[in-house]
Amino acid sequence: MNFLLIGDVVGRSGRNAIQKYLPEIQKKFQIDFTILNGENSAAGYGITGKIYEDFINWGADAITLGNHAWKKDEIIPYMENNPDHNIIRPLNFSEGSPGQGYKIFNHPKGFKILVCQVHGQTFIDLPLTNPFESIDTKILSLINDHGIDYSFLEVHAEVTSEKNGIAQGYDGKFTAIYGTHVHIPTMDARVLDKGTCFQTDIGMTGDYNSVIGMKKENAIKRMRSGDHSHRLEPADGEATISGAVIKSEGGINSIQSIQIGGVLDRNLLS
Ligand SMILES: [Fe+2]
Ligand SMILES: [Fe+2]
Repeated sequence: MNFLLIGDVVGRSGRNAIQKYLPEIQKKFQIDFTILNGENSAAGYGITGKIYEDFINWGADAITLGNHAWKKDEIIPYMENNPDHNIIRPLNFSEGSPGQGYKIFNHPKGFKILVCQVHGQTFIDLPLTNPFESIDTKILSLINDHGIDYSFLEVHAEVTSEKNGIAQGYDGKFTAIYGTHVHIPTMDARVLDKGTCFQTDIGMTGDYNSVIGMKKENAIKRMRSGDHSHRLEPADGEATISGAVIKSEGGINSIQSIQIGGVLDRNLLS
C-alpha cells in the first residue's frame, strides 16, 4: 500500500495546486490513500465545508486540521450535519471539543487504516491535554482491538523536539508519524529503529515565495513593528505541494519527502 501525506494547504494557491496536480501525483506514486492537512486552506485560516468537499472530490481521503481548526466556525455545524465526514482534529483538544481526533477507514483493498492527529503543547496557546496521555488512552488499544493494518499519527506542533519525542516514543506502534504546522519541510525523512516512517515536518502546500505562506510585505511589517493590525493574506504565487510518500509492503516501510511545483519543485513528476 502506498500513502500520500500532504502538508498544510495554504489558501487559494495551495488549493489550486491540489486540484491541478493531485491526480498526477497519485498516479505517479500509485497512491492508495491520501491524507491532507487543511487547517490553512480557507484564506489561510481554517477550512469550510465547500473546501473540504473539494479536497475529497479532487482525491483526498482524510483531512486533518490543527490550531486553526475552527477559524472558519461554519465547519463545526458542517461536521455535525455530515456525521460521516473524514475530518480529523487534534485528539488532545480539550474534552468536549467538536469533531473527532481519529478515524478508522475501511479501504477498498480490504485494509483498515487509522488516521489520528495530536497537537504539541510547546509555544501553543490552546487548552490541550498531554499528547502522550491522549495517545496512550485513546489510540493504542484501538490499533489492537480493531485489527488496524496501517496507522498514521500526525503531530501538529511548533517545536522539532516535541515531534521527535513523540515519534521516538511511539516508534514501532504506527506505520508513520509525521509533523505538520511549521510550513517548512525538514530533510530528515527516514525509517526509525522499530520501523515507523518519520519526518519532523512535511512542510506546507503553498507559495514559498512568502513568509510561511503569507504575503511577505505585511508579515515583515508585523515583525518589524509588532503591530498586528497589518493583515496577513496568503501569498498567491504558484504553490509547491509538499508532503511525503509512504510505502508499506509486508511490514517493510519506506518514506520519501516530495516537493512538486512552485519554487521548491524537485522535478519528481517527469
Ligand atoms: Fe498550518
Ligand atoms: Fe498549525
